[in-house]
Amino acid sequence: MDRNQFIKQCGFACLGVIGVSAIAQSCSPSRQLNVSIDDNKLIVPLSAFENKKKLADQSYRPYIIVRNEQLNYPLVVYRNNENDYTALLLRCSHQYNELNVNGELLTCPAHGSEFDTKGNVVNGPASEKLRSFSITKDNQHLYIQLA
Ligand code: FES
Repeated sequence: MDRNQFIKQCGFACLGVIGVSAIAQSCSPSRQLNVSIDDNKLIVPLSAFENKKKLADQSYRPYIIVRNEQLNYPLVVYRNNENDYTALLLRCSHQYNELNVNGELLTCPAHGSEFDTKGNVVNGPASEKLRSFSITKDNQHLYIQLA
């Protein structure tokens, strides 16, 4: 293979990797966003759950991850249905490590505890549920009561 062929093949390979990466990001079921706090409530726009990449029919992300600089840990907010959401602090109840969100399973990279979408322990060593928050809703926002 000569130099020009090598450069051409490497260029196509790089474009392929970039293209696959872009497609994977656009298909991601989750979204992370920074949200504001007002009157001790996190304010989450309902539009954050809309999956605008799918134009054929309206679809929704099953969950989003929200952050605010005043919070030591992010929250995951699951959309159970149009009127039912669950907000959980992504802090392991074992030794307070930040949890990873793997779809419907929340996993702790420290010692392997796992939790479901309601914050219940699926696998230890954690033995307590995750902290959850009450949520109110209007036509445009969720209001997650922090205390
Ligand atoms: S801190 Fe999460 S399992 Fe230990």
